Amino acid sequence: MKPTVGILGMGLMGRPMALNVLAAGYPLVVYNRTASRADEVVRAGARLAASPRELAVQCEVVITMVSDPPALEACLWGPDGVLAGLGRGRVLVDSSTVSPALAVRAAAACAELGASFLDAPVTGGTWGAEKGELVFMVGGEAEVLDRARPVLSTMGKRFFHLGPHGAGQSVKLAMNLILALEVGALAEALALVERAGVAGEKLVDVLQASMARAPVLDVKAPLMLERRYEPSFPLRLMHKDLGLAIQLGNELGVPLPAAAAVREVYSAVRGCGGEDLDYAGVASFWER
Ligand SMILES: NC(=O)c1ccc[n+]([C@@H]2O[C@H](COP(=O)([O-])OP(=O)(O)OC[C@H]3O[C@@H](n4cnc5c(N)ncnc54)[C@H](OP(=O)(O)O)[C@@H]3O)[C@@H](O)[C@H]2O)c1
Repeated sequence: MKPTVGILGMGLMGRPMALNVLAAGYPLVVYNRTASRADEVVRAGARLAASPRELAVQCEVVITMVSDPPALEACLWGPDGVLAGLGRGRVLVDSSTVSPALAVRAAAACAELGASFLDAPVTGGTWGAEKGELVFMVGGEAEVLDRARPVLSTMGKRFFHLGPHGAGQSVKLAMNLILALEVGALAEALALVERAGVAGEKLVDVLQASMARAPVLDVKAPLMLERRYEPSFPLRLMHKDLGLAIQLGNELGVPLPAAAAVREVYSAVRGCGGEDLDYAGVASFWER
């Protein structure tokens, strides 16, 4: 008998992750604050829970995939939250990107209930989520990862056990810091060559020939050249991750000057409001 799995958060990432868990034959219960966003997954065979608590009561493994620290706090500690229903021996896996400090706090709350916790943020984007090829960055006990691995393997193929609780989030924030800076640098350089009268495609061609083909060049550059910014990884979430990385740097006494500078550019685009852009939309700062 496969254990019952619960997933909270039917956003861009949670939906395809849930479909892969279902496809692997696990009984699945889902919850989303806006219930209608769970329709596709419910049609595919999942049960819809009315609250995080109701979900947690029914599931051996609970996975959270929500936007940011306040969202995770609401799902865990809010009225009818996961922690009100999580039983002894259960495993809670948080795959959202939040602060390492929040991961440590969630782990302590689980331990008080006799349950186990892993921080297990992911990389691979919506493409990786759809293909079941996410990469998990895990903090917590190796034995708990071994217990959760069969379920997580339906959504991802590579697991890095990085240390105690919070270690997964520290590495995830470092990963997104690199991506945010790379995309910010590319946007800035494109604005420069285009203002100098050279087509942006030409810069990208030269870059492609001069270094290993990188996801930023293969995936984001074409969208930036076409000014197509429909969200795959929303800019508001990258802005959140830059803030979390800078906060972690502050806590640890590590200066992050390039990250602080590029966050101002992401802040400016975010502050313009309007539609939900992908983080490649940082390029629109120079268009404006
Ligand atoms: N997209 C990517 O490429 C990508 C890649 C790797 C990691 N991540 C990380 O994965 C997480 C999810 O990303 P996503 O792209 O799936 O985000 P998303 O599409 O914006 O979905 C966010 C989810 O969080 C829920 N939520 C937000 N605030 C909430 C609150 N206060 N209480 C309860 N639920 C709340 C939303 O519910 P509603 O539907 O009700 O708004 C939705 O289910 C984020 O931490 C992100 O940084 C994303």
